[in-house]
Amino acid sequence: MHKEPSPADRRLTTLARHLDSSSVEPMDSANQSIGVSPTSASAGARNSVFHHVVQAPEDPILGVTVAYNKDPSPVKLNLGVGAYRTEEGKPLVLNVVRKAEQLLVKDSSRVKEYLPIVGLADFNKLSAKLILGADSPAIRENRVTTVQCLSGTGSLRVGGEFLARHYHQHTIYIPAPTWGNHPKVFGLAGLSVKTYRYYDPATRGLDFQGLVEDLRSAPSGAIVLLHACAHNPTGVDPTSQQWEQIRQLIRSKALLPFFDSAYQGFATGNLDSDAQSVRMFVADGGECLVAQSYAKNMGLYGERVGALSIVCGNADVAGRVESQLKLVIRPMYSNPPIHGASIVGTILKDSSLSQEWTIELKAMADRIISMRHQLLDALHARGTPGDWSHIIKQIGMFTFTGLNSEQVAFMTKEYHIYMTSDGRISMAGLSTKTVPHLADAIHAAVTKIG
Ligand SMILES: Cc1ncc(COP(=O)(O)O)c(C=O)c1O
Repeated sequence: MHKEPSPADRRLTTLARHLDSSSVEPMDSANQSIGVSPTSASAGARNSVFHHVVQAPEDPILGVTVAYNKDPSPVKLNLGVGAYRTEEGKPLVLNVVRKAEQLLVKDSSRVKEYLPIVGLADFNKLSAKLILGADSPAIRENRVTTVQCLSGTGSLRVGGEFLARHYHQHTIYIPAPTWGNHPKVFGLAGLSVKTYRYYDPATRGLDFQGLVEDLRSAPSGAIVLLHACAHNPTGVDPTSQQWEQIRQLIRSKALLPFFDSAYQGFATGNLDSDAQSVRMFVADGGECLVAQSYAKNMGLYGERVGALSIVCGNADVAGRVESQLKLVIRPMYSNPPIHGASIVGTILKDSSLSQEWTIELKAMADRIISMRHQLLDALHARGTPGDWSHIIKQIGMFTFTGLNSEQVAFMTKEYHIYMTSDGRISMAGLSTKTVPHLADAIHAAVTKIG
């Protein structure tokens, strides 16, 4: 008896007809089953619909850790990635974070519902206060909209996408050099990325004149990315007087400042001192954007906790800006994760936990500063040629050593020391035990490879 094909069989037959005959096995007329398609498990690798995909290079920063992990040497040292390590070379979870987590776990009223698109309200308010100051007039006047984002990177990306949609100037100036992800984040957000001079290799300090010239010739209204403190990768920050001159220049040309604050508290050990650049710009009543990260200063790297604040001219604009930020976020990741922001909120709203945090933060900053002194002393002790005083002048997590890529490659091959090829080393990855090994390697690199 003739059996009518089921709707499912009909769909399969139609699909098979549409597939390229060369990639489809002949139909088995008895069971009408579909042949091997490129997406089926039995299709050979050559038949993949992705066969044209080429191997992408490793991320230049995260790739350092990949190479480090493959090295079996017992003396290997990873100074590539920007994550704090203890004197024993171990990752650190702050005590205050553990305490906050205990409180959260014990609180049975807590649920795992979705957060609103803009994240945890308490976290947002407290984050704005942390960076702008508890007494900020902009906050008092409701001119600041803050949204919880996926750490610093996510905050920069959401800010970039918002600007690409709603700001008349699509050019963003980033410092040369800068954190390697900046051009990619802003480029993919839809902005056109240009650079301004920042670092002078000759002085291993700020190229202030170059910076001023480049910002002066930027088109009116252009966006300017500024590292709030502890510039990555150079460790070179403007002085307060230079910040003031930069502020005047930016305001006089109606440029739009976008601060990246990934290291508040990490540079000097003081949260307020490290926020001075941002507060200087907000105090003049002008508008700006600020991306904050809690990765380094609270050690919440993998929790992906951050915030984007947009300081607007008035409360009305701030409300409308927030409504548009929601439209950026909703199709991107819908709403942010709850756990990390709850940790930050728990700490920031409790004065004794906050106090404890500042003590632990200062201890991290101080250990990094002490590593700077120890490394400089070790190089002096070896009589390493050159002026290495920039090691203690630069601040924050990184030292831009001035070592070239050949010297870096030599140190990796001969001494198993891993760092980015631009000679940036994470001081937070060093310890009293490993400083002599690094100093030996730098000494050999400098004396053997000029
Ligand atoms: C300057 C700068 N901005 C932003 C980030 C983003 O970090 P995260 O997304 O982990 O908060 C980093 C991390 O290294 C950084 O150095």
